[in-house]
Amino acid sequence: MRRFLDLADFQRDEVLDLLALAQALQDQPQPRALVGKILGLVFFNPSLRTLASFQAGMARLGGSSFVITPGQGTWQLETRMHAIMNGAAAEHIREGIPVLASYCDALGVRAFAEGKNLESDLRENLFHMIDELCGKPLINLESAINHPCQALADWRTLDQLAVPTRAKFVLSWVTHPRPLPLAVPAATLQMAAMRGMEVVVLRPEGYALPRQIMAKAEAAARDAGGAVSETNDRSAALAGAQVLYAKEWGSTAHYGDSEADARLRADLSDWCVRESWFETCAPDAKLMHCLPVRRNVAVADEVLDGPRAVVKREALNRLVVQMAVLHRMLA
Ligand code: CP
Repeated sequence: MRRFLDLADFQRDEVLDLLALAQALQDQPQPRALVGKILGLVFFNPSLRTLASFQAGMARLGGSSFVITPGQGTWQLETRMHAIMNGAAAEHIREGIPVLASYCDALGVRAFAEGKNLESDLRENLFHMIDELCGKPLINLESAINHPCQALADWRTLDQLAVPTRAKFVLSWVTHPRPLPLAVPAATLQMAAMRGMEVVVLRPEGYALPRQIMAKAEAAARDAGGAVSETNDRSAALAGAQVLYAKEWGSTAHYGDSEADARLRADLSDWCVRESWFETCAPDAKLMHCLPVRRNVAVADEVLDGPRAVVKREALNRLVVQMAVLHRMLA
């Protein structure tokens, strides 16, 4: 495997193989599997889990890693094609990425959406450029519209919790002080669709997921025997749900216009998950979130501190499944 960029690049059986490898590595650790191998990690944006879990995973497999956060102790990297580089960035990714790739055996890159133009972000232009520039195996640590490592970890979490493949999975918009990217909702939707679940996207008006993202998930659901739908009716969506996956994202009706988005979300403070949201869900319904989560803005303490929340298990599973990705790429 030379690329781990999008769960949709893999057949369902290939995902299941990766999950089986993750379990095997947990049952029988291989602390020397990647001795002598080096993982380069480039973070254009902040992280807690992705940064720490990739470094820990590499170490647990006997390899090592280095981290670059452009502009923080290293040169700021220009990402725009044909930029006249008379600003803060001293180096272009056209040199920076191949140079970093030449120092390691695989490279992971995090580069969020610009958040200005939806069509441009949906095209994933920056990540495609990084893909072309990287001559080594490449891992998407979260791009404009994708977060496959999170999606793979969440698939494992659902399996561990014995959530049936055909169960109702509600991906719900929750509020946040500012618009956030579409990467996690898109990757989560794709994962649940590929798993064959009955997926409902619950969101207020103005926050519909782009047609392109929905269509891709609908195709995956058809292949897996599941279904994908979208609604703004909270009670209908949550009735019988076995999983409520909470996620914040920006208005797609006002993409790139943070003031219009702020006006829209001013009336949406009740989109904070509380225990009352679960009244008509399955009795043992779970609350998932990729983290970081803003307590009592996106999800209330009473839910995060209660038995439904499996957010820390999801975070641990990041380490476990990423070790499988690294092993498949480099062992
Ligand atoms: N869920 C996730 O990717 O967390 P970080 O942003 O902390 O890496």
